[in-house]
Amino acid sequence: MSPPSGQRRRVGVLISGRGSNMASLIEAAQDPAFPAEIAVVISNRPGAPGLARAEAVGIATETIDHKVFGDRASFETALGDGLARHGVEFVCLAGFMRIFTDPFAERWVGRMLNIHPSLLPSFKGLHPHRQALGAGVRIHGCTVHFVVPELDAGPIVAQAAVPVLAGDSEDTLAGRVLAEEHRLYPLGLRLVAEGAARLERGRTVYADGAATTLGLRPDAR
Ligand code: GAR
Repeated sequence: MSPPSGQRRRVGVLISGRGSNMASLIEAAQDPAFPAEIAVVISNRPGAPGLARAEAVGIATETIDHKVFGDRASFETALGDGLARHGVEFVCLAGFMRIFTDPFAERWVGRMLNIHPSLLPSFKGLHPHRQALGAGVRIHGCTVHFVVPELDAGPIVAQAAVPVLAGDSEDTLAGRVLAEEHRLYPLGLRLVAEGAARLERGRTVYADGAATTLGLRPDAR
């Protein structure tokens, strides 16, 4: 299915750090058949390594430092202005470590995605890999979901699973999940940008045949 106008959707990616998920979205969008283009990358942290990665491949970047604003609402006004300057229709949070006010999140409902490194609704919030190891789960993974005001609680768009292996540390588990994140986020964005996954009355509704999971890979290390 293509976007209604036949145009690629303009996407803003929000980051706070390294930007490896951002890079996977940029790479996917380099394919002209991908239904979205990355219009801008915005970081709330000056010097975030992801900014240089985006600039190196010719993507527009902006830094909107939350620390220079007196409150969250004025930071979000600046963020909204930044997204508008680049004609952004959909937003992807990619390691963006700020929590939005309810009005800002509500303004973007159905048009803002996040990736979280757990199989939601398990292990919301900080240190999801530590939480997963502590809980003793044998299967872990990552989730692309629509953003709603409540943290890590939005309707799920797509998920990928990985095994938890004997001897895993937070780092080894995080690395295995991250490799799946890089496959999953482009899939989730594609579904939403082409209209194959939509938020309706608080639930994700899929077009027939939309593939929404990446399987447990027995060879994953
Ligand atoms: C990723 O693992 C992402 O899922 C996680 O931060 C990392 C950012 O890495 N996001 C969250 O925990 C959000 N709750 P990246 O900057 O290399 O994409």
